[in-house]
Amino acid sequence: MKKIPAFRKALLEWYDKHKRELPWRGVSDPYAIWISEIMLQQTRVAAVIPYYERFLAAFPDFRALAQAPEEAVLHLWAGLGYYSRARNLQKAARQMVEMGEFPGGYEAIRGLAGIGDYTAAAVASIAFGLPHAVLDGNVMRVLARVGNDASDIANGQTRKRLQGLAQEMLDRSRPGEFNQAVMELGATVCLPKQPLCAQCPVVAYCQARTAGRERELPVKGRRNNTVKVERTLLLIWKGEDVLAWKRGEESSQLRGFWELPEPEHLAGAQVVHSVGEFRHSITNHQFLFHVAEARILRKPKGFYYVSPSHEGDTPLSTTTRKALACSKKWRKSFPGS
Ligand code: ADE
Repeated sequence: MKKIPAFRKALLEWYDKHKRELPWRGVSDPYAIWISEIMLQQTRVAAVIPYYERFLAAFPDFRALAQAPEEAVLHLWAGLGYYSRARNLQKAARQMVEMGEFPGGYEAIRGLAGIGDYTAAAVASIAFGLPHAVLDGNVMRVLARVGNDASDIANGQTRKRLQGLAQEMLDRSRPGEFNQAVMELGATVCLPKQPLCAQCPVVAYCQARTAGRERELPVKGRRNNTVKVERTLLLIWKGEDVLAWKRGEESSQLRGFWELPEPEHLAGAQVVHSVGEFRHSITNHQFLFHVAEARILRKPKGFYYVSPSHEGDTPLSTTTRKALACSKKWRKSFPGS
C-alpha cells in the first residue's frame, strides 16, 4: 500500500480520540500489561475487566504471583476458561524471579512460558515501545479488508503474509499504540458481520469497501467438526458439603479443579430426582449436562465432601458451579425439599 503514512496517521488520531477507557490502558507496568494480554486471548474485554482487577489486587507483581499457591491462582481464574493460561502465568512468574526482573527484549519475553508471537509482540510494543506488530483475529480481519484479500486466514501461509504486512504497516514511532489501535478498530468498528464503515477512520484506504466486499472478508476455511455430547452430573450432599473429586496431574485440562461425580464413577448411586440441565461448550464440544441429586451408601475412594462456599481451597470447575446453580434454582422452586 502506497499510502501507509496517511493510514497510520488517520488510525492513530482516531484511536487517541475514541479508544475505550480500559483498566490496562495508560498502564506502563509490563507485568500488568502481560496479565491483561493473556486474559484477553480468546476472551471478551467485558468479561476480562473484573478478572483483571481482582487478579492484580491479589498478585500485584510477578513475585507475588510466583509465590502464590496454585489453587489461589486457579480460583481467581475460574470462569475465564483455558486454564493452562493461569498455570503458565505462574510458571512465567517463576522464570522472572530467576531472571530477577521482567525481561525487556522481544526474544526474552517470547521465551517465557505461555507466551507466543502475539503476546510477545503485544508486551514488547506496549510495555517497552519495541517495533513488533501483533497479529490476532481482529488484526487479520482489518488487514484482509484493507487489502481486499480473500485468502483463507486459517492457512499458515496467509498468516505469515499478513504478519509481514502488519509489520510493514506498523508505526515505529508509536508501536504499542498503533498495535492497540488496529485491534481496537477490529473490536469496535471493523466488526465481523456488520462493519461500521461510516465510522471508520481508514475507510478511504479500504479496498474491500471499494469493491463492496467487506462483509465477505476475511475468508476462514472451517470444517464443521462440532461434537454434541450429553452427560449427567450427580449432586450427593452431606449437610452443606457435596461429593467431588479433584483433577490430578494426569489431567490434560482443568488440573487442580474439583468436579462432580458422574453415574459411571459410582455404580451404586441412586438418583433421587433431577434438578435441571445446562449447556456448556469447550472448544468443539457442545455438552448438555443433566444434573441430578443422588444417594450413595458408602463414599468411594478418591471422592471427598467439599464445601462449595470455601472455594479458596477447592477451586470448582465451571461445570460444577453450573450444576450447583441448577440445584439452588430447583430448591427455590421447591422450597422445603
Ligand atoms: N485485544 C487484545 N489486547 C488488546 C489491546 N491491548 N487493545 C485492544 N484490543 C486488544
